[in-house]
Amino acid sequence: MEHKIAPSLLAADFLNLQKEVEMINKSDADWLHMDVMDGVFVPNISFGFPVLEAVKPICRKPLDVHLMIVEPQKFIPEVAAAGAYMMNVHYEACIHLHRTIAAIKEAGMKAAVTLNPHTPILLLEDILQDVDMVLLMSVNPGYGGQKFIEHSVEKTARLKDMILGKGLNTWIEVDGGVNMETGKRLLDAGADVLVAGSFVFRSPNPLKTIRELKDL
Ligand code: DX5
Ligand code: ZN
Repeated sequence: MEHKIAPSLLAADFLNLQKEVEMINKSDADWLHMDVMDGVFVPNISFGFPVLEAVKPICRKPLDVHLMIVEPQKFIPEVAAAGAYMMNVHYEACIHLHRTIAAIKEAGMKAAVTLNPHTPILLLEDILQDVDMVLLMSVNPGYGGQKFIEHSVEKTARLKDMILGKGLNTWIEVDGGVNMETGKRLLDAGADVLVAGSFVFRSPNPLKTIRELKDL
């Protein structure tokens, strides 16, 4: 499969959100990644459903919504109503993950489970067959522009082996500190989707940067 690029809106210019979304529409990006934070699950607050709802009608790319919140199952209807294509919930935030994954799919979205850098992939043993995607965090969630955690490359490769070993075709998305160099190594290790925040939006030419990530 050709890999996908999902620029993260967290690094966009919030005063010019419409322009930023129009840039994404024009670009070769596959999805738009949107980071919702609650100040409890992660030590930061970003934006919530009103921003998702405002972006949805003007964005022509599928929305990849990453919920860094406690009890994400409470907000499945809101995320669906905001037009999300993919709903990512953290393994660490879900006591009844199997039920939550089923509810996300019932609401008409694709379902992904997200792992913090310290959470072992072995914990996916009995849920992998039920998810469309696994999102591996390659930084500790909460902020853009952090340093890439090297261990994520090896973790991606092990997850790829686990997926293939089970005869599945679950996508692997990696989020945090992605640039040309880390992105290339993640793709070689088996990643299918790369999230890139500051590398895209802080670039002097975001359209070109997205194209270059796509060509990796
Ligand atoms: C971090 C978010 C990321 C963030 C990535 O908690 O989940 O999506 O926007 O930003 P960069 O690419 O700058 O590390
Ligand atoms: Zn994210």
